[in-house]
Amino acid sequence: MTQNVFDSTMADRIAVVTGATAGIGYETVKRLVGHGCSVIANGRREDRLRDLVLEFSPECVATVRGDTADQAVVGEMFDAARETFGDGAREADLVVVNAGRGLKGSVVDSDTAQWEEMIRTNLLGAALVVRHAALRMIADLERLSSRGASWRDRPHDIVVIGSTVGRHVSPFSSMYGSTKFGLHGLVEGARRELGPKGIRVTLVEPGFVRSEFQGVAGYDPAWFTGVVDRIGPVLEPADVVRALMSAITQPPWVHFNDIVLRPTRQDYP
Ligand SMILES: NC(=O)c1ccc[n+]([C@@H]2O[C@H](COP(=O)([O-])OP(=O)(O)OC[C@H]3O[C@@H](n4cnc5c(N)ncnc54)[C@H](OP(=O)(O)O)[C@@H]3O)[C@@H](O)[C@H]2O)c1
Repeated sequence: MTQNVFDSTMADRIAVVTGATAGIGYETVKRLVGHGCSVIANGRREDRLRDLVLEFSPECVATVRGDTADQAVVGEMFDAARETFGDGAREADLVVVNAGRGLKGSVVDSDTAQWEEMIRTNLLGAALVVRHAALRMIADLERLSSRGASWRDRPHDIVVIGSTVGRHVSPFSSMYGSTKFGLHGLVEGARRELGPKGIRVTLVEPGFVRSEFQGVAGYDPAWFTGVVDRIGPVLEPADVVRALMSAITQPPWVHFNDIVLRPTRQDYP
C-alpha cells in the first residue's frame, strides 16, 4: 500500500486518548505509539495505566487517571500533553474521545441506577473533552499562525467514538443509543464550527466490537454468543483503530467526516 505523506508526520504528533485502559482506547494508544506519537492515556484504573507506561515506556506514554466527566481531570490531561511532550508550548493536536460504556436495555427495562453514570460519561464527559480539545487547538493554531505557518502545515484532529446505535435506533439498547445519538449531534455541530478553523472533528461509529464493553453493559453472555454465531466474526478493537487511522493520516485539507463500520454480516442496527 502506498504511504500517505502525512503518515510520516504522525511521529510528531501529541495525542490524548480517553478510556485507554481497555478495548479500542488501548489499541489506539498501541497504534499511535507504533507510529511514534507521544500519548497522554486516560482511564480510571490505576493498575492498567501503570501497565501501559511499562509496556510502551514513559518516553512516549504518560497517564492521567480519572473520570472524563470531571473538568479538573480533563484540564490535567491537556496540561500534561503540553508540559510533558510539547515543551510547555505545543498543545495536543490529536484527541481521541473514546471513554464510554454501554447499558443493556431500553428506556423501559434498563437499570435506572446506571443511567446517570452512563449519560455523564458518554455525553457530558465527551462534550467536556471536545470543548477543551477545541480551545487548546484553536490556541495552537494561533501560535502556528504567529510563526507564519497555518492549519495546512499540521493536522489537528478530534476523533469521537460514537456507535451505529447513535444513527439507527436499537430497541435492545435504546438508553445507551440515546447517548450516542446525542454525541452524533454534538460532533456534527463541532465539525461545522471547528472545520472552518482547520480542525477536523471525526465521528467513528462502529457496530459490534468484542471488548470489555459487553461485560460492563451487562449483556447476557449467551445472547452475545448468539450474536457472534449469527453475524460474526464481530469487529476487534484493532479494526476500529485502522478506520480511525485512515482519517487522521489524510492531508489536513481532507476530512472523512463520519466513518461507519460494521462486521460484514451485521445487518442491523
Ligand atoms: N464494543 C462495542 O461493541 C462498541 C460499539 C460501538 C461503540 N463503542 C464505543 O467505543 C468506546 C470504547 O468502548 P470499548 O468497546 O473499547 O469498551 P471497553 O473495552 O469497556 O473500554 C472502555 C474504556 O473506557 C474507560 N472509561 C469508562 N468510563 C470512563 C470514565 N468515566 N472516565 C474515563 N474512562 C472511562 C474504561 O476504563 P476505566 O474503567 O479504567 O475507566 C475503558 O478504558 C465507547 O465509547 C463505546 O461506547 C463500543
